[in-house]
Amino acid sequence: MTSATEIRRTFLDFFAKNGHEVVASSPLVPQNDPTLLFTNAGMVQFKNVFTGAEKRLYDRATSSQKCVRAGGKHNDLDNVGYTARHHTFFEMLGNFSFGDYFKEQAIDLAWNLVTREFGLPKDRLLVTVYHTDDDAAALWRKIAGLGDDRIIRIPTSDNFWAMGDTGPCGPCSEIFFDHGEGIPGGPPGSPDEDGDRFIEIWNLVFMQFEQLSPGNRLDLPRPSIDTGMGLERIAAILQGHHDNYDIDIFRRLITASAQASGTDTDGPYKMSHRVIADHLRSAGFLIADGVMPSNEGRGYVLRRIMRRAMRHAHKMGVPEPLMYRLVPALIETMGDHYHELRRARALITETLKLEETRFRQTLDRGMRLLEETTQTLGATERLPGDVAFKLYDTYGFPLDLTQDVLRADGRGVDTEGFNAALAEARTRARASWAGSGEAATDRVWFDVRDTAGATEFLGYGATDADGVVKAILVDGAQVDAAEAGTKVSVIVNQTPFYGESGGQMGDTGRITTPEGLDIEVTETAKKLGDLHVHIGHVVAGRIAVGEAVHLAVDVAHRDALRAHHSATHLLHAALRRRLGDHVTQKGSLVAPDRLRFDFSQPTPIGREDLKAIEADVNRLIRSNAEVGTRLMTPDEAIAQGAMALFGEKYGDEVRVVDMGAILGDDGRNMPYSVELCGGTHVSRTGDIGLFKIVAEGGVAAGIRRIEAVAGDAALAFVEIQQDRLAEASATLKVAPGDLVDRISSLLDERKKLDVELARLRREIATGGASGGGEAQIEEIGGVRFAGRVLDGVPAKELRGVADALKKQVGSGVVAIVGVHDGKAGVVVGVTDDLTGRFSAVDLVRAAAEAIGGKGGGGRPDLAQAGGPEADKAADAVKAVAAALAG
Ligand code: ALA
Repeated sequence: MTSATEIRRTFLDFFAKNGHEVVASSPLVPQNDPTLLFTNAGMVQFKNVFTGAEKRLYDRATSSQKCVRAGGKHNDLDNVGYTARHHTFFEMLGNFSFGDYFKEQAIDLAWNLVTREFGLPKDRLLVTVYHTDDDAAALWRKIAGLGDDRIIRIPTSDNFWAMGDTGPCGPCSEIFFDHGEGIPGGPPGSPDEDGDRFIEIWNLVFMQFEQLSPGNRLDLPRPSIDTGMGLERIAAILQGHHDNYDIDIFRRLITASAQASGTDTDGPYKMSHRVIADHLRSAGFLIADGVMPSNEGRGYVLRRIMRRAMRHAHKMGVPEPLMYRLVPALIETMGDHYHELRRARALITETLKLEETRFRQTLDRGMRLLEETTQTLGATERLPGDVAFKLYDTYGFPLDLTQDVLRADGRGVDTEGFNAALAEARTRARASWAGSGEAATDRVWFDVRDTAGATEFLGYGATDADGVVKAILVDGAQVDAAEAGTKVSVIVNQTPFYGESGGQMGDTGRITTPEGLDIEVTETAKKLGDLHVHIGHVVAGRIAVGEAVHLAVDVAHRDALRAHHSATHLLHAALRRRLGDHVTQKGSLVAPDRLRFDFSQPTPIGREDLKAIEADVNRLIRSNAEVGTRLMTPDEAIAQGAMALFGEKYGDEVRVVDMGAILGDDGRNMPYSVELCGGTHVSRTGDIGLFKIVAEGGVAAGIRRIEAVAGDAALAFVEIQQDRLAEASATLKVAPGDLVDRISSLLDERKKLDVELARLRREIATGGASGGGEAQIEEIGGVRFAGRVLDGVPAKELRGVADALKKQVGSGVVAIVGVHDGKAGVVVGVTDDLTGRFSAVDLVRAAAEAIGGKGGGGRPDLAQAGGPEADKAADAVKAVAAALAG
């Protein structure tokens, strides 16, 4: 059997042999296209090459592209498990010509690969062409020797491929495989073409045009080729199956799922295993590319995929989380080609485990509610929308999960009712802002927004501008005017002041008029998404609604923010390049004097990596590359881009910021960093000046944080370090380069001195050493007793002294009280021959009482205690003596 891995390799090798550059799959989150939810075709990473906007070092390429079709316009999520060929994740094999070869060679290459390399019999193949494409039909006749009955002309959009309403497009030609008479279905274009007998395996797109707008089509600079072949489909054919889920990759994952759940692969849970296998692939690859489960945008699509699979695991009666246990099987099956899976192994495992553990807490109760409700419904009655909403809101059931559960009984959900309940919940949330405390002051912004309208932000291009005052707030209430000495919040129709958002702090500056108004703005906030609120203090003059004012941003403060924000983008890109595509932003703070960046990463970052990342950012800074920004409305973005829009909210504009250029490993010229960002940036990377990482640490499971400084703040940081170093070397009187040696030798010396000091103290205590005399020993009730108070001797040294004294006494009792740091410590020792009569533990207790301490502990021959009343140290010795006297 030819494995899927071999098929992938055969495809890429074939095109490499034919002069194509083998290009790695781009990540599932498109890097250069902010309009797409997920990468869903091989051509996505080459979009701008087709139109001529971007140049590469090669004009032929081939790839095996990871694709996800879930959540966006192409959404196959609902069908997975029910059909033989739907997947949320699949691999698209493709070859591309950027103005090099065209139809003839594309057809020739495809026919050769399919019939020679893959060895498919010619009589099982047929092709379609666009109905007016005589060229393609003639080429198929000439190259493949197919008769007209096997070249089917299709007049619909099925054979005209476009990436979206605009962008590269052209007629296409598809190759179909006939699975044989045993399977119902007719050839393409026939009334029963939707049957399963004739399966499309390869789409060859003859890229010829660029659609600029409806009805406005340009010729591409040069005719090009884009093809797409689903690896799972061709693998099914070459492995002798009709069903994609029977290929080797899926069988291994399905077997793993069956083993982990103790069920049969093809028994009653056959469908569940398919869902789990498919969703494991999409979840694993999405997490590896940095997507984390959340309640919006891409993260919510991931959560829906994960929970749908987890519901199936639960349905099989598996008591423990299951999905994470299948990660080794996923990595064994696909990790050799997609190394990102190996790199992100820990992150994938932990994310799946956590999500399943959490979801299980509500899954049971949600399922019970669902069952109880459906029992009360008629056989065809839909599930009421409010129940679906409760499942969503309280039990974490995505709508499509509820639909998937009910589908088994042929029951639907009242989705209008669900949407109405969702909308109502949002309205309630807004109304509840009228509550107490701060929430009540926030509510005023809705009124301000109604009268003042949105603030137009001019600050990308300007740092000062004129505006008309639309509203003034003092103590949270709207006023018409405010005098000098008042704290105010000012809203104008347009402003250059950036309102705090997206992690970047707001601008500071001044609002003035020629009539003498002077407001010092210490903070700019952003309310309700588009109200810029200037918060400050009227230093002089008077401000009134309706007046024109001049707004000037503090440029030094803004420049410092810009440097830190642009440095954050470079840091993000450098982290991804060094650590992998699983690194994505999880939180960010951009201040004028520092930046903080949180990102997904399972393990701490070593010193070497940190140095390399810092060096990479500084290299980009020195390259002094221009920082590019492009703005588009979401509508333009949809139009330009293709297939789906981000789930996230980005306001009226989608802004794309790119920095630097690098030559990728595969020879592609690409921006170093591309991000959707509403913040303010430097115009050239050189303006950042310098970048220094100050700290690295963990903030939560799977999330690390880097703190860093840029520009003047970085210089200041370096200066402080240098000053400290200079001070240290002046104090130690050595050159900075010798500091470490000097400190080590001082520490060594200190250690030796400590040992020597302890020894001397013991000798003094026992009266030995230079004095040569014996310790004072008395006899109490026939027992030899030596008692001592030692000033300045810490508690930890008392035992040594007591042991030494015990030796001197030979047979008897010793009591040593040490006074150190205003406290007293006491040790009592009893020589072994006397432990039958006296216990050191009892004796030390008596001593402790005398110094205001409690308890004490040890063995019958040596016990220790302490107390706060150091001035009673002598009493402690007396107390022991008294106890001996009985
Ligand atoms: N871009 C073409 C497709 O996705 C090959 O079908």
